[in-house]
Amino acid sequence: MIRQNSIQTILDTVPIEGLIGEYVSLKKRGSNYIGLCPFHNEKTPSFSVSPSKGIFKCFGCGKAGNVVGFLMEHEHFNFPESLRFLADKYHIPIEEDQPDESDRASLDKQDSLYIVNQYALHHFQNRLFETEEGKTIGLSYLKERGFLEETLKTFQIGYSLNKSDDFSKTAMEAGHRLELLKELGLVKDYNNSLKDFFKGRIIFPIRNLSGKPIAFAGRVMSNNVKAPKYINSPETPVYEKGKTLFGIDLARTEIRKHDECLLVEGYTDVMSLHQYDIRNVVASSGTSLTEDQVRLIKRFTKHVTILYDGDQAGIKAAIRGVDIILKQGLTVYILMLPEEHDPDSFIRKSGTDEFKKYLQKNKQDFILFKTKEQVKSANNDPAQLSLIIHNVVDSIAVVPDPIQRSLYVRECAHLMHLDENMLVSEVRKKIRKILYDKGKLNTTERQKLNELDSNKQVAPRQANKIDQFYFFEKKIIRLILSYGDKIIENDTSVVASILSNLDGIRFKHPVYNQLLELIRQHYHASDHPVFADFYKHHADDQIRKACIELMTDSNYELSKNWSEKRGITIPTEEDNYVNDVISCMTRYNFLCLSDLIERNNEAMKTETDADKLKQLVKEHQILLDKRSTLGERLNIVIVSPDHKSRFDV
Ligand code: GTP
Ligand code: MN
Repeated sequence: MIRQNSIQTILDTVPIEGLIGEYVSLKKRGSNYIGLCPFHNEKTPSFSVSPSKGIFKCFGCGKAGNVVGFLMEHEHFNFPESLRFLADKYHIPIEEDQPDESDRASLDKQDSLYIVNQYALHHFQNRLFETEEGKTIGLSYLKERGFLEETLKTFQIGYSLNKSDDFSKTAMEAGHRLELLKELGLVKDYNNSLKDFFKGRIIFPIRNLSGKPIAFAGRVMSNNVKAPKYINSPETPVYEKGKTLFGIDLARTEIRKHDECLLVEGYTDVMSLHQYDIRNVVASSGTSLTEDQVRLIKRFTKHVTILYDGDQAGIKAAIRGVDIILKQGLTVYILMLPEEHDPDSFIRKSGTDEFKKYLQKNKQDFILFKTKEQVKSANNDPAQLSLIIHNVVDSIAVVPDPIQRSLYVRECAHLMHLDENMLVSEVRKKIRKILYDKGKLNTTERQKLNELDSNKQVAPRQANKIDQFYFFEKKIIRLILSYGDKIIENDTSVVASILSNLDGIRFKHPVYNQLLELIRQHYHASDHPVFADFYKHHADDQIRKACIELMTDSNYELSKNWSEKRGITIPTEEDNYVNDVISCMTRYNFLCLSDLIERNNEAMKTETDADKLKQLVKEHQILLDKRSTLGERLNIVIVSPDHKSRFDV
């Protein structure tokens, strides 16, 4: 039993944002940190970490707790395991009472499975490095392939002797229970005689995120035997095949650092790349990628680059199964290696620098790659072409981000020589179908469809917007001309307040802009505004006309008449100028922000440079945040589809 004071020390010492930051990409927001919740699938961050309180909380799924709770949830550790893990990681000494018999007996099942696996791992390592057979057969083979001893140690590679009971005998003599050995698939029971599962094979331990061995893969030594090239441990309470990626424990921090995950097929590919200093790499281990595996990657990055052999089978394999990655909102790139190569052989031939150069130069966006490949294979056959449109549409439709989706629509339409609108409508149909197939449309999905449908209305909205600008510009000028030298707050005049708010801004209406410039000049020269009368007699025709027109604003007249007729007093602009200035300026700022957001959006659609795009996306998020703050002040609910950017920044 770990003593209470040790538990307290651990809780007091471990920085929660540091610990969770290793699993979730966190961004600072005020005194807290936010990120994408690792416990449920989400696109906008609702997972918050409070360093001062030492807790995390997800406002989406409701999970909450401290550092220990986080590890229990995330790593499936039990309570003492979490504490030990933290104590070890942060070098905190722990005091323990002697465990009694019942404690020992109730040691979690998972614990004992890990312990046995750990034992097996050391056993196989010992056999590789310390036995004659291991050295002459296993080690020499691995070294001949170019693996350094350091790499073998990092991956804890081992060897199982070509003998049917070397492991089972040793393990049982060391006191490990047969039922656990069997449950882990390390020992098989054939007609009442025990046999080792791995015999005469190179052993690749498969480790979880925190580096614990959860399973093993064994590779045959000669390629011409009938036995399968690889055999794997069965699934157990500590090993779910579809949830693990080979190499993830070593790659996780590197993936975050490079904001990219390289995905390869083979264990040896991971090891080779690692040896050549390319360490943001994991393997799916032959099986096709699962959603859980993608979710695992997504904790560290949103960019996956798949490395495939450059042959036809490689291309086919690449195209299959990628949609599940896209569906999770990740951007997928594909790197075709030269025809006769896999990542292992290619990096040995090219070396680190050339490999990196090749990667940068040749990786392609998956959807565009797929479209190109399909166009090539369709060979201008119309029947084939219609088939590939559906194929391409299938991939685009699962992309959750509308901006990215419309980017793809444009590019792919171009590649297939299609009308963009036609492709938009195909994608829309497909999304509708996906949603109906799922049997339900929830609010966000309905919104998604509306948003797709509203793409058509961009033009009229635009025309409307310039009118809105003119409206506010006129009103601002009028407020200055009417109340310019009145005090709005703390000795600040209306004109001073408005001009400082408009710093660097040009009006869209040419005449109002001219007026604004004149007001600016005059104000800076004399510290006082020049009032309406001055402009009403201005030499410039247009200025004179605009000024007279805006000083006899019909709205203002209307309210006067209206109140006289009905005998009620409503506050006139004059009574209300303070509120009027504030509200007008807030609304104008809101409009400017919306305009910037829209323009930024357009820029994002056409930007092809990844870094610049990233910058735009960042700005986009800042603008959206600003606008929603302003919106709250104005009590405006923003419903436009770009309100929530789903880009990761
Ligand atoms: P080397 O041939 O030693 O370079 O191994 P490799 O890891 O590159 O193997 P390969 O490219 O043939 O296969 C890629 C991955 O598919 C392997 O790492 C395994 O995870 C998996 N795999 C290959 N063959 C088998 C098999 O026979 N059975 C199982 N279960 N998996 C296999
Ligand atoms: Mn290989």
